[in-house]
Amino acid sequence: MIRMQGKIFGVGVGPGDPDLITVKGCNAIQSSHVIAYHQTSKQSSNAFRIAGKWIRDDQMLLPLTYPVTTELSSYSQTYANLIQEFYEQTAQRLKQYLDTGKTICVLAEGDPLFYSSFMYIFDRLKGDYEIEIIPGVSSIFAAAAALKVPLCYRNQKFIVLSAVLSEQELEESLNATDAFAIIKLGRNIAKVKRILAKLTLHSHARYIERASMPNEKIIPLENVNEHCSPYFSMILIPGKSWVAGK
Ligand SMILES: C[S@@+](CC[C@H](N)C(=O)[O-])C[C@H]1O[C@@H](n2cnc3c(N)ncnc32)[C@H](O)[C@@H]1O
Repeated sequence: MIRMQGKIFGVGVGPGDPDLITVKGCNAIQSSHVIAYHQTSKQSSNAFRIAGKWIRDDQMLLPLTYPVTTELSSYSQTYANLIQEFYEQTAQRLKQYLDTGKTICVLAEGDPLFYSSFMYIFDRLKGDYEIEIIPGVSSIFAAAAALKVPLCYRNQKFIVLSAVLSEQELEESLNATDAFAIIKLGRNIAKVKRILAKLTLHSHARYIERASMPNEKIIPLENVNEHCSPYFSMILIPGKSWVAGK
């Protein structure tokens, strides 16, 4: 049964440029009592930075600090346990505000239902509380816009791959599709570059860092550092153009 108490907004704040937050997203931010956002112990929240100019001084801030970042493999059991416990505790913290009638805005970078920490809050609270989701401009579309690449034409297939996947999984997926985005590059960049070269896709691949942020960078893939890419980076491989001769 839905209890008519507080409410959650899951707001997508877009890929980096604050002007890419929707009007509806801004209204939700400004009408909330509490502004919640994820951060690490080492880095402040990017979503909070993006939404900053819409947040008022009288709103309560609720940072949600991950217990782990990249020290542990996301496949390890220790990581899984710590992160599950963190989301359970986060849900409990939010409930305390909701049960006193507060409106909470959870900020999410890009879109809130696309590889976002907001989803773990949503999954835990959706049966019991009112949740309104306000979509955001995903980084995939900001990257395509900055690179000026049409992503897919007509009936072409487009898939999103996490670079964390194994070499074999990446290779199989890349062989079976027309257009791709590869996200979560980080320390997997050398592996991805090797696979793209093996499948002769490297010459079509476009690399971008921090799309739509002030320090956005477009770098030819062959010049990208092999050791580690920034967290906010991705590779797009667009579908073949349908304009004759191009
Ligand atoms: C956990 S996912 C978050 C996706 C986000 N919810 C969205 O809709 O864009 C994080 C990955 O998205 C990509 N990403 C997010 N923002 C980006 C940006 N501004 N420029 C390039 N890549 C970005 C990176 O590959 C990063 O590792």
